[in-house]
Amino acid sequence: MFTAFGRSLIEIGSYSMCRCQACSNIFELKLKVVAHSGEGLLNEVGGFSILSGIDTITVHRLLKNSVTLDEYVLMTEAAQRDLPFPAQAGMVEGSETYAIGTFKTFLYRPEYSTEFDEAAIRESFSDSNVAVKILRDEIQNEYTDVACDPSKGFHFNTGRRASEINEYAPEWIDFIPSEVLESFAGMGNPFSLGSLQPGEHVVDVGSGAGLDSLIAAQMVGVDGNVIGVEMTAAMIEKARAAVDTMGSGQVECREGFMESLPVPNDWADVVISNGCLNLAPDKSLVLGEMFRVLRPGGRLQIADVTALKPVPSEAKQDIDLWTH
Ligand SMILES: C[S@@+](CC[C@H](N)C(=O)[O-])C[C@H]1O[C@@H](n2cnc3c(N)ncnc32)[C@H](O)[C@@H]1O
Repeated sequence: MFTAFGRSLIEIGSYSMCRCQACSNIFELKLKVVAHSGEGLLNEVGGFSILSGIDTITVHRLLKNSVTLDEYVLMTEAAQRDLPFPAQAGMVEGSETYAIGTFKTFLYRPEYSTEFDEAAIRESFSDSNVAVKILRDEIQNEYTDVACDPSKGFHFNTGRRASEINEYAPEWIDFIPSEVLESFAGMGNPFSLGSLQPGEHVVDVGSGAGLDSLIAAQMVGVDGNVIGVEMTAAMIEKARAAVDTMGSGQVECREGFMESLPVPNDWADVVISNGCLNLAPDKSLVLGEMFRVLRPGGRLQIADVTALKPVPSEAKQDIDLWTH
């Protein structure tokens, strides 16, 4: 339990996404366990179940005790009887005295070490992983703003200006609703690697407000199909509204993660992506997904930031550098 707790702290802390005091001091958190065994009465008070009775009071009293350690398990005799620790745990006998009586106690002091193993942390990234969830929440907050408050000002180029910098042809964007263009947050131009052909199947990974998906739809025509995969709800909403406005029936916006694309194997002729892969902690997982959905001989057209040197670990632990 203590080892698992320590590992979770490292996992959360090593991608210290949030700057609040609690998150900044996460490595200072310690685990203290106080256990007692007895009888309790469950009362319904104001719609809540409240546990009461003398044994409940006892365990609450025990939270204030004479133990000076940072981390421990402190058990009453009754708890040690009902939940016995193995003899090897080396529980130390003691006592705690309160107005309600003196209690014999058993104290366990954990000895464990949890080393910072970045490789192991990276390896453990998965959809159910806490660190990934925190990172996704932060990214979603940022891109919800790009969708809902596009003029707010961001640390990256957005809107028409981003499309001009990335040399999007005026004829591609002339027909795009302004709500989509204003929330464009692409970092490059996936179409500069080649045009898409009529009838092709395209997956747009991290499709945002849908600009690239709608341009792709124009290129593949009514016989083609485009699936945009996006995790931020506000972005999907914008993209779906634009698809309806434009009557682009060949475009479908699917809610999902780039790490587990909601697209069948070998479905796509082309996978495009613009500014999304850099937001993935595990890029090989995403590239694996892209290859899975591509048919043999399909094309991958990714526009994104690239690093010419290894990224220092302090930079990897800075949420602002991930989301901005
Ligand atoms: C820089 S924006 C680019 C959006 C769009 N490609 C464009 O060019 O406007 C990155 C997008 O990737 C989405 N995204 C980030 N992580 C994702 C993930 N794990 N799965 C799916 N989408 C993700 C974000 O919500 C955001 O909309």
